Formats: sequence, C-alpha cells, structure tokens
Amino acid sequence: MTKNETYGKKAHELIPAGAHTYSRTDEVFPSNAPRIIDHTKGVYCWDVDGNKYLDYGMACRSVTVGYGFDRISEAAIAQIRNGNTASKASKVEVEAAETLVELIPWVDMIKFAKNGSTVTSAATKLARAYTGRKYIVRCKEHSFFSYDDWFIGNTVMDCGIPQEIKDLTLQFNYNNIQSVKDVFEKYRGQIACLIMEPVDDQEPRDNFLQAVGELCKEYGVVYILDEMITGFRWDIQGACKYYNVVPDLVTYGKGMANGFSVTALGGKREIMELGGLIPGKERVFLISTTHGAEMSGLGAFIETVNVYKDLQVTDHIWKMGRRLCSGLKEIASEFKLSEFFYITGAECSPNMVICGKDKKPSFDYRTVFCQEMLKEGILMPYIAIAYEHNEAEIDRTLDAGRKAMKTLADSLNGNVRDFIVGDVIKPVFRKYN
Ligand SMILES: Cc1ncc(COP(=O)(O)O)c(C=O)c1O
Repeated sequence: MTKNETYGKKAHELIPAGAHTYSRTDEVFPSNAPRIIDHTKGVYCWDVDGNKYLDYGMACRSVTVGYGFDRISEAAIAQIRNGNTASKASKVEVEAAETLVELIPWVDMIKFAKNGSTVTSAATKLARAYTGRKYIVRCKEHSFFSYDDWFIGNTVMDCGIPQEIKDLTLQFNYNNIQSVKDVFEKYRGQIACLIMEPVDDQEPRDNFLQAVGELCKEYGVVYILDEMITGFRWDIQGACKYYNVVPDLVTYGKGMANGFSVTALGGKREIMELGGLIPGKERVFLISTTHGAEMSGLGAFIETVNVYKDLQVTDHIWKMGRRLCSGLKEIASEFKLSEFFYITGAECSPNMVICGKDKKPSFDYRTVFCQEMLKEGILMPYIAIAYEHNEAEIDRTLDAGRKAMKTLADSLNGNVRDFIVGDVIKPVFRKYN
C-alpha cells in the first residue's frame, strides 16, 4: 500500500468523512488526486508519497499570498514565542483590531474568531438582538454561510435540525430586487437581517447591492455582507470597496491571515456594542471563545495586511486571473469547446463551468478535466489564485489545460465514463451520501 492509501484509510476510520471540511474529502476530487498532504509551500503541495502538485485549491481559498510565506510565518512564530495566549486581552489582540478598523472605514468595532461559521452566525444573532425580530433572510444562490442550524437547516442537508428553526430562515434571489421587496413586505416588521456575499460567480447588476441596502434601511433590516471569500481578494478592502457598498455588519475570514485561523465580525458601533458591557443593558453573549484571539493568528493577520500593502497582492491576483482566464478561454475555443468549458465570475476568483453533451454543468465531465489536470501535476478542484501564482505557474497550467481540454473534447465525442478512472466527483451540497 502507498502512504496515501494507508493514511487515507486511517483518516476515514478515525474522522467522519476523512477530513475536517466536506470540500476537502476524497469524494469531491477525482481518484488520482493526492489523498493526504504532507506539507505545502508557496503554491505547491506534496502528498505523503512525495508527489508534488501545483495547487489551485489553496486550502479552501484561505491562502492568498502563498503557503508558509516567510514574513507571515515569522510574525506568527514571534507570537508563539510570546506565549501565544494569555489570561487577559493581549497587546496583539488590540493591535489586530486597530489594523482592521483602520483598514475598513465601515468597521467601527470588530470581534475575532477562528471560523467563518462562528462570525456569520454571530452576525445573525446580533441582528436579532438589535432588532428584536426573529427571521433571517439569506441569498438563495450563495452556497454557504455557516454550518450552524440557521443556515444548514435552510438547505437540502437539514437532517438533525428542528422544523421550528428551519422556519425562521427565508430566501431571496441575487440580482432580483423584487424578490427582496416581496419577502420584506410579506414579513414586514419581523425580519432581523439579510445576509449575502457581495458577489460570487454572478456579479451585481443595476446597483443591486446598493438597492438592497436602501431596502434594508426602509424596512429596518440589518444588512450583512459576508466577505469570507471576497474580502482580501477583490480588494484589500474587499468587494464592498470594489462595488462601493456599505453594509451594517460584515464578516471576513479566508485571506485575512494567509491561511492562519482568523475570522472577524465587524460593523457599526451602534450594533456591535450590544455585545459589549454597556451598564444596565441586557447582555448579548456575542462571541466568547477560548481560542478566538490566539496571538499567532493575529500576528499573522497584521503581517498579511502589511504584505498586501507592500506587494499589491490583490492587483497581482487580478492580473494572474486575467492571464489564466483568457488562456483557458482561448484553448476552449481552439477545441471548439466554448459552450462546454467556460469561465464565469470576476477574474480575481474565476469559476470553471464544465458541461456535458446537453450543455448543462456536469460532474462527469468535470471529473475528466480535473483528472487530466492531475495527470499533469495540477490540483485544480476550483480556481483560487494567490500572490505566488506567477506567469510561470499560469503558463504551465495552460499547457496542462490544453492536454486536458483535448481529452475533454474526446470524451464529449465518446462515452464519458470510458474516460474516468474511479468514481465521478460529487457535490458537497446534496441530500444523501
Ligand atoms: C461565503 C462563506 N461564508 C462562510 C463560510 C464559513 O467559513 P468557515 O469554513 O471558516 O467556517 C465559508 C466557507 O467556505 C464561505 O465560503
């Protein structure tokens, strides 16, 4: 047995699903993907058998500079040497808060945590406390906000969540302002907050983000933008800056600290301070975690912001994204595949769409493409570009893309299953295993 097989088997015996994120499990990758990673550096990872891959997953998009980027690692190590944690708030905790508040003009106060779900859930709780209302309205097209009940209970994976909780989350459609008005009108006076990402693979049209903000004001609804993916990618000040929109509350995570576990809930003082110690006010138990202000992560966050400013990280991500997207589009067109392989979304966060003979997105054909990229040493479950993806990496990816596209074309002309070794990749979000 290879080490991948040995550790892979153990992982499934010891950890439900074999990993701590559903999007990092074996079933969402082709069978020739590395099963267990030994270490990572830059934009590369090495599996336990010593195979090296050029990585476009970048740890669920959380690493936006590069794995183990020395300046950032040193900042984290300095905090580890500083004790890493303490019985009272630490200096780096205050400095990190100051860094974020100074960076984002619409953030007056912040709370740090370790996971994105913690801060999005905290945002909804705070909104309920602020408004005294019970309903949450979430964007239907955006795939994930939290593993907590208020969100997962509103998806097909609602197993284990009581109906009473499910009933409290409602939906609207992105870029459809009427759908927002409809739900606000139907539940007038009962909606605490609306939550969405500023953008995913559909970009905002007709000032949608601003129009939602206006409606939130009119109906007294707290406007929450989840910048988990878009923050520190569209711009150092996130997609809010890029699209010129100001939310009441905002959440950040991936990209804040180059893969160190740091997330944040920020926003208007008037709302945030409910989680504070205002004398006589009812206590809102906002976020209170043992590890939320771990010094190493916060040291990494401060240095990540410095690196972003010194090296213009987001400009580079956009530039490499444009190079990759235009190259892939050209190759798809060379193979007359433009209707079967195309890119949607902003070039700083491109979304690959791979279709079958019926021109609808297909996991079979996606498996073929990803499997063929892996044969060339490229791990590309989706595309997350980091600062250390340079021209050389992009060009190598395009060379591999040409080979993969050739096989994709062949599979569209034949029986796709003949081109797949092992199982077809599966979506994370589905009702049954
Ligand atoms: C938009 C969005 N919000 C929230 C989360 C939850 O973040 P975490 O995995 O850190 O809990 C994710 C994670 O993928 C996300 O993509």
